[in-house]
Amino acid sequence: MCGIVGYIGKRDATPVLLEGLHRLEYRGYDSAGLALVRRGRLQITKTAGRVQDLRDKIDDGRQTTKATIGIGHTRWATHGEPNERNAHPHTDTAQRIALVHNGIIENADQLRDQLTGAGVTLVSDTDTEALAHMIAAELAAIESASLSDAVVRTLRRVEGAYGLVVLDLKNPDELVVARKGSPIVLGLGENEMFVASDVAALVRYTRQVIYLEDGEVATISATDYRTTTLSGPSVSGDGHRTPTTVDAQAEDYELGPYSDYMRKEIHEQPDAIRRAVMGRLDERFATAKLGGLNFDPRELRNIKRVKFLGCGSAYYAGQMGAALVEELARIPADAEPASEFRYRSPVVDPDALYVAVSQSGETSDTLMAVQELKRKGGQVMGAVNVVGSAIGRECGHGIFLHAGPEVAVASTKALTNMAVNFALLALLLGRVRDLSAAQGERVVRGLRGLPSQVTAMLNAEDEIAAIASEFADADHMFFIGRVRGWPVAREGAQKLKEISYVHAEAYQAGELKHGPLALIAPDMPSVVVIPSDDLVAKNISTIEQIKARGGPVIAVTSTDIPAGLADALIRVPRTEPELEPILFNIPLQLLAYHTAAKLGRDIDKPRNLAKSVTVE
Ligand code: F6R
Repeated sequence: MCGIVGYIGKRDATPVLLEGLHRLEYRGYDSAGLALVRRGRLQITKTAGRVQDLRDKIDDGRQTTKATIGIGHTRWATHGEPNERNAHPHTDTAQRIALVHNGIIENADQLRDQLTGAGVTLVSDTDTEALAHMIAAELAAIESASLSDAVVRTLRRVEGAYGLVVLDLKNPDELVVARKGSPIVLGLGENEMFVASDVAALVRYTRQVIYLEDGEVATISATDYRTTTLSGPSVSGDGHRTPTTVDAQAEDYELGPYSDYMRKEIHEQPDAIRRAVMGRLDERFATAKLGGLNFDPRELRNIKRVKFLGCGSAYYAGQMGAALVEELARIPADAEPASEFRYRSPVVDPDALYVAVSQSGETSDTLMAVQELKRKGGQVMGAVNVVGSAIGRECGHGIFLHAGPEVAVASTKALTNMAVNFALLALLLGRVRDLSAAQGERVVRGLRGLPSQVTAMLNAEDEIAAIASEFADADHMFFIGRVRGWPVAREGAQKLKEISYVHAEAYQAGELKHGPLALIAPDMPSVVVIPSDDLVAKNISTIEQIKARGGPVIAVTSTDIPAGLADALIRVPRTEPELEPILFNIPLQLLAYHTAAKLGRDIDKPRNLAKSVTVE
């Protein structure tokens, strides 16, 4: 949420920063800005709008002298409306300090009051601007103070979350960066350094990175960096750390032949599933090998309960995971939104395994839930996609999703890989208990078959696009599912609403008659999810109830239903019953995608949303 970049080196900083912002735009896209030091002056360009608008503005006033140090920001507004005044970078009154910030300063009102009381005029409505004035005041108060000292002294007075990059006009050979609760990564180049809130902005320049820890502050020059902490000494002793080599390549972030990332990522799912299972299926013992888990078989057996925690689609994936664990391992399992869990003073069961589920690995609510669990002695493992992310590091062990970089705000391949990884986890937990080898083999075979089945569904995309087009003028839609179909229905409704803005509600089929049936009418289509389980007859009768009230039905099914019963039919290939939710998600992604496309929505950047929600 919010993208931040910084550069210091020999190149022309402007294209590097703009390219970085373009790569990070999925983290926020309501305003953007750059600060550069050029010919001894701080030069700030901001715009309400997208990075392309910023690029156009900069091109219009193109300068001949290159700037070799600068910072940039693409914003997802929290404090203050998304206009040019509130866009980052923010500065102090004398325009000495410029900074970009990702996160929320919780005591901003108090800090702003103190500044105005001291005669400072604040020009924006943001929480961030206060920091620029405070850092400038610290530098003015102590002549010998370094920029890093001033940042540390300022941040000691700040409550809240931040990823921060600070530029000082009087120190144009260094940037100071800080992190608490919002990701910051340093990219180490040859005589140049990069900073960003996500490696997506760096990989075309370097794959050697340092992920800052919470509470760390780093001073970077073109040739070196030093870290320290808010409490004093550096984490590593000498201020240097062993860099991590990032897996992703610059091409992984290219669109290729696709017009948007969501469709690209939908089509990458067969490969993503292959990566998730690669080397993790043990055919000999009909089980899964999850090398990232720090449990021996006895410890696995001692797990009495499993609870999945995640937000949004990651929570729905957790529901799919809970069903898999209950079915294959026969251990009680459930899922809860991490955002609820962290606030309700949960009873933490020492015999339970908690699974923190997150594509980005940065979602603040999920991270806080993990911290709360650890504080209470809970056993928690991560299921994250982004290696090096905060949740992965906080958990210390777990499973990487191996979905590859996901750029579109709406999650598709990461959600699929969550469910696939939970099938592996459930298989492992099942096979140290009572799941027979024959049953294990059945699941292993099912998992191996998924990629080609997904490909088959993607090949039928045109049929789903036609159905989407037929129903795209609906203002509301129901998504109905029961048992295995229930999390699928929830995720289907979520995808549709977030990218098409069509109001969508998911209901358990059995709950329809307890209230929502009142809404069924000819202008309220229902998408009914019908897996091949022993509830087919019940689901058929649900369709009949809807049809009897004049409601159109789109049936999504892997079984045979009476001809002519539904107004539209989407076929899903048959897999092992427990794995069906994984396949059912795919056509619902396509349905949402093509509805949004038909309505002309900005699919990768839905209004009001951003990827990686690092604020509460
Ligand atoms: C929906 C979507 C969001 C995320 C949620 C959690 O398509 O993308 O609901 O699933 O914000 O994000 P992560 O998985 O990064 O923790």
